[in-house]
Amino acid sequence: MKFKLDSGKKINYELLIIPVFENEKKNQYIEQLNKESIKLFKDLIKNKQFSGKFLESRLFSNSILLFGMGKKKELSEENFRRAVAESHKRVKSLKFENYYSLLPSEANGSLSRNIFVATESTILTDYSFDYYKEKKEDAKKVKTCTFVTKDKVNFNTEIKNAEIVANATCYTRDLVNHPPNLVNPEYLAKEARKLRSSNLKVTVFNKSDLIKGKFNGILAVGKASANEPRLIILDYNPKAKDSVAFVGKGITFDSGGLNIKPGAYMETMKSDMAGAAAVLGAVKAASEMKINKRVFGVVASAENMPGGLAYRPDDVIKMYNGKTVEIGNTDAEGRMVLADALAYTEKKLKPNRIIDLATLTGACVVALGYWTSALMTKDDKMAKDLEKAGNRCGDRVWRLPLWDDYRKNMDSNIAQIKNIGKGRDAGSIHAGIFLSHFVEKTPWTHLDIAGTAYLKSGKYYNPRNATGAGVRLLINYLEQ
Ligand code: BES
Ligand code: ZN
Ligand code: ZN
Repeated sequence: MKFKLDSGKKINYELLIIPVFENEKKNQYIEQLNKESIKLFKDLIKNKQFSGKFLESRLFSNSILLFGMGKKKELSEENFRRAVAESHKRVKSLKFENYYSLLPSEANGSLSRNIFVATESTILTDYSFDYYKEKKEDAKKVKTCTFVTKDKVNFNTEIKNAEIVANATCYTRDLVNHPPNLVNPEYLAKEARKLRSSNLKVTVFNKSDLIKGKFNGILAVGKASANEPRLIILDYNPKAKDSVAFVGKGITFDSGGLNIKPGAYMETMKSDMAGAAAVLGAVKAASEMKINKRVFGVVASAENMPGGLAYRPDDVIKMYNGKTVEIGNTDAEGRMVLADALAYTEKKLKPNRIIDLATLTGACVVALGYWTSALMTKDDKMAKDLEKAGNRCGDRVWRLPLWDDYRKNMDSNIAQIKNIGKGRDAGSIHAGIFLSHFVEKTPWTHLDIAGTAYLKSGKYYNPRNATGAGVRLLINYLEQ
C-alpha cells in the first residue's frame, strides 16, 4: 500500500472519506475540497442523513464515505487510531482500490501527528496472514491512500516513520503467525541474522556454545526437543552512550513439557515466542529509524517438549548466574530461559536499562484480559516512562506490584528457589519475582504480554491471532 498527500483542490476521487463530528454544524475540513464535493456534503448533512456518532459510517453516491468521529471533545488519539482502522475496514469491504481521506487535526491538535497515526493504523489494519491459504484470483487490495491536507507542509517523514514502525509490527505478527514446524530456535536465529547491517551486529550461541557458557536454564528447557536451543544477541548502534536491552522469551512451542498441557491450552502455543518476535521487530524498527541509542536485543529460544531427555519436576538446575532452581513444573519454562538471558545481559552487555517481554503466564490473561500487558518493576521512572509510551501509542501496560512480600512463596526446600509459587495466587507476580532473582542492580522491567500478543478475535487495528504487541510500545519508549 502506498500513502500520498494532496492539497484537495483538484482531486478526482473514486472514494473520499470525510470525518464528521457529532453535533457539529460546521465541518471545517471540507473547505479544502472542490465546489461540487462541498455542495454534496452540505446537502447530506442538511437532510440529517448522518449524525456522526463514533464509528458510524454511511456511503453516499458510491463515492463519499461519511465517517463518525463522535463528540469532538472525546476524540482521544487512540479513538482516532480506532476510527481510522474501522474506516479502512469499510473501504476494504466495499472493495475500493484507491481512496482519499480528509484528516482532522483534532485528537491531539497536530496534523503531523495525525498523519503518523493514520498511516500507522491503516497499515496495521490492512494486514492479513494468508501464506497458507488458497490464492484468490479476484482478491482486491487497497493500493493507495491519499491524505488530503491543505497545509503545504511536507509530511513525508511522518509517513516514513509510521511505515517503519507499522511494518515492523507486521513483521513481528508474521513471525508469530507462522507455524511451529517452521519457526524453531534456529529459524529465529536466521531471521536475526537477516537484520545484520554495518550498525547492527548479530551473534548466535548454538547448543555447544550454551553448554560451554553454562546456560543451564535454557538447556534444560530445550533438552527434549530435536530443535536445539539458541541464544541470539543483537547489538544496534554500539557507539551510542545510552543503552537499553530488550530481552524476549522465544519458546517456539510450549507443550508444557512433562507437565504436558491439555489440548485446549496447547493450541496457539506457537505464540509463546511473541516476546522474542517483538524484540526482533523493535530492534529492526530502531535501526531503520536510526534511533540515537544503543539497543540490545536478546532472544532466549527453545522448544519445550516432553520426552525421554526432558527436564523433570524435581530436577535442580544450576543456572547461568550460579543460583540453583528446583523445578516444580516444567510448564513454567519461560522464566527459566529468561533467567539465563537476563543474567547474561546484565553481566556481559551491561546496558543502562533492561526490559523483558514474555508470554509468561496464563494468570496474566485472567487478571488483565486482552487490552493491556502487565508491567512489573521496582523502578518508578521506568514504570512511568513505559506507561506514558503505552498510552501514547495504544499498546498499553498496567502495573502490578513486585513487592518483597511475595518472595517467600518461591522458597524451595532443596534449592535456592523454586520455579513456581505455592498456590494458584498471584501467578504473574510470582513469575516476575522469580525473574528478579536474576537481575542484580540494573534498572529492569518485566512485561507479561500473554494476553495482548495473540487474540481470538480482532479489535480495531489489531487482527485476530498475532498482534505484534510490544513493538510500538518499545519504539515509543525509545523515542522519549
Ligand atoms: N506460555 C505459558 C503462558 C501462557 C498461557 C501464555 C496462555 C499465553 C496464553 C507459560 O509457559 C505457562 O505455561 N505458564 C504456566 C505457569 C504455571 C505452571 C506456574 C501457567 O500460566 O499456567
Ligand atoms: Zn509453559
Ligand atoms: Zn510458555
